[in-house]
Amino acid sequence: MAQRKKLIVGNWKMNMNVHQASVFIHHLSKKVAVHRDVEVVVSPTMLALQPLSLQIDRRQFKLAAQNFYFRDHGAFTGEVSATQLSGLVDYALVGHSERRHVFHEHDKLIRDKVQAAVRNRIKPILCVGETAHERSEGETTGVLHDQIVGGLANITSEELSSIVIAYEPVWAIGTGKNAMPDDVKKAVHTIRNQVKHLFGEAAAQAIRVLYGGSVKPDSAASYLAIPGIDGLLVGGASINVHEFELIIASAHHRADSPEAWAL
Ligand code: PGA
Repeated sequence: MAQRKKLIVGNWKMNMNVHQASVFIHHLSKKVAVHRDVEVVVSPTMLALQPLSLQIDRRQFKLAAQNFYFRDHGAFTGEVSATQLSGLVDYALVGHSERRHVFHEHDKLIRDKVQAAVRNRIKPILCVGETAHERSEGETTGVLHDQIVGGLANITSEELSSIVIAYEPVWAIGTGKNAMPDDVKKAVHTIRNQVKHLFGEAAAQAIRVLYGGSVKPDSAASYLAIPGIDGLLVGGASINVHEFELIIASAHHRADSPEAWAL
């Protein structure tokens, strides 16, 4: 099995202006070592993508868009397309719970966005996860199934290799509530099983799966230790240089350890 690179993504959401983003990355760049087995990605405001793309060393950091529209160009006032982002970002978040729940993005739109990203050579980070209500009703497996089938419909096996899946239980995002590692393990198992069902065993082994939801420096290592977890999608702690640096450091330690690649 090919080794899956660790991936740490900082989702800055609607925080920091262009200047603050630039200062932040300047400070972070002094703290983060370039490590061939760990990719560090930051997802700033759309406005900062262009200046940060000129500022960063791409061996150290890569950029992700937080959002985009699925059409490549045309009369869509106020929107930015994956075509316009192409070359600027390596990754893009798709189906983040805030997009699903605050902006009512549904599976069909999310599927179109996954395809648009792939078409424009941007790696989609497809976010999936159940709400507190769905969890209490015992619907987690079904929700993950529907979101994966919905998000990956029309994707070929070849295209799948550029896709990352992030498991983010909605109730753990921005709430400080920690998902139990055993529950995350089960969810990752469900996700890989679903990918296996759709694309086969090799694809299920190769795809990178992240965990996200209130990850902090003191919990990062325990999530990274979960078999089948390849990295973290971090919100709140990624806009604090010190906290984000510590989280990245825990991925470096995992990548160095001999069992780090075991599923
Ligand atoms: P959080 O956000 O780390 O603040 O919970 C995670 C996310 O929204 O991806």
